[in-house]
Amino acid sequence: MATITTPLQVNQDRLHQKLFALAKIGQLPSGGVRRTAYSVEDLAAREFVITAMGQLDMAISIDTAGNIIGRYHGLQDLPALATGSHIDTVPTGGRYDGALGVLAGLEVVATLRESGQRLHHPLEVIVFTDEEGEMIGSQAMAGTALVNDAEAYRRLEGTSIQTCLQRIGGNWEMLPTAQRTAQDIAAYLELHVEQGSVLETLQRQIGVVQGIVSLQRYQVTILGRPNHAGTTPMEMRQDALYAASLLIAAVHDAAVNIPGDQVATVGYLNVSPNAPNIVPGQVDFTIDLRDVSLETIQTMVDTLRQEVRAIKVATGTQIKLEQQHSVEPTLASAQIQETIVSVCENLQLSHYSMPSRAIHDAQEIGRFTPMGMIFVPSQAGISHAEDEYTSQEQCTQGANVLLHTLLQLDTLL
Ligand code: GLV
Ligand code: MN
Ligand code: MN
Repeated sequence: MATITTPLQVNQDRLHQKLFALAKIGQLPSGGVRRTAYSVEDLAAREFVITAMGQLDMAISIDTAGNIIGRYHGLQDLPALATGSHIDTVPTGGRYDGALGVLAGLEVVATLRESGQRLHHPLEVIVFTDEEGEMIGSQAMAGTALVNDAEAYRRLEGTSIQTCLQRIGGNWEMLPTAQRTAQDIAAYLELHVEQGSVLETLQRQIGVVQGIVSLQRYQVTILGRPNHAGTTPMEMRQDALYAASLLIAAVHDAAVNIPGDQVATVGYLNVSPNAPNIVPGQVDFTIDLRDVSLETIQTMVDTLRQEVRAIKVATGTQIKLEQQHSVEPTLASAQIQETIVSVCENLQLSHYSMPSRAIHDAQEIGRFTPMGMIFVPSQAGISHAEDEYTSQEQCTQGANVLLHTLLQLDTLL
């Protein structure tokens, strides 16, 4: 009689105990999580992951970018298969963005270990530094970090990157030594929540990422003249916030007035002196532009530069528009996409191939070695917000696809 074997499966309870325990670190009264990179909460979360790696007998190292690398050794002396993500969050984030990829990676190791299995390749679970900021961790690993521009990584509250990296066991001066190559990472596979509503709308269980969009971020500084809000006639004002409001509306229009799915966001704004009875003298804000096509992003930038010229004249302000951060698009490996699809079919999970409109560490790692990403649905497409939610069952399905895709890649590569 033929025996039917159930495919190896991760342990849903164990995965969720860890997800909930990690979400307690930096938990906000509202239920969201604040664990910005290099904060005390981030440090505590890093300790949590290091302890969990130790419990799995993984060899743990921290590179000069502060990336935590846990290694489950393989049967052969081969380049590693790597997985992971990040545990830092946006200032008011959810419990799944990044955390799921790291903890599912550890759950894959726990599952293999429990069943007495090792891969031929070493298996690395990597926690990348500051994904929600400038992605210095994955950039350093890919050799794309701006090693001569410490200012590019300065925190908004003014802390230098040297201090930040020191806090987590990294070393800015030695950053280039964090670089890896395809000779030591054979492939990288990341599980992440979709952070959009495509999978939920189409009622598919797994997203197979085809590639990750480009992001271009600009810093805008508008200088006007602070003055009395009562005595300064309207025609004599150089109101930096009024100028900012015109430009912010132009950012929105730059995205919606051309065909396509490009997006443009002003998400950070600082007004100075920020008092009800003073005409604003200075406004600083960011512009975040994203699309799969670099040309489309350039079209939006050209439009905004024209608007800047017109708004300067109309408001008597000075406006500086400076590029702050630029991430090139990255394609996922065709072989890894095919492998994810075949694993979904074996596990009888519905799937859908799609681009990622969020930025991920996989984007940088994919510059030097084949990368792939697995998405699970986000309820109502909500992310970077406190009510980000993916059910236990959906997280477990993603973790099982991660496990089996790594098992397949272990035999293919
Ligand atoms: C990172 O999560 C981003 O897409 O901004
Ligand atoms: Mn993320
Ligand atoms: Mn994020």
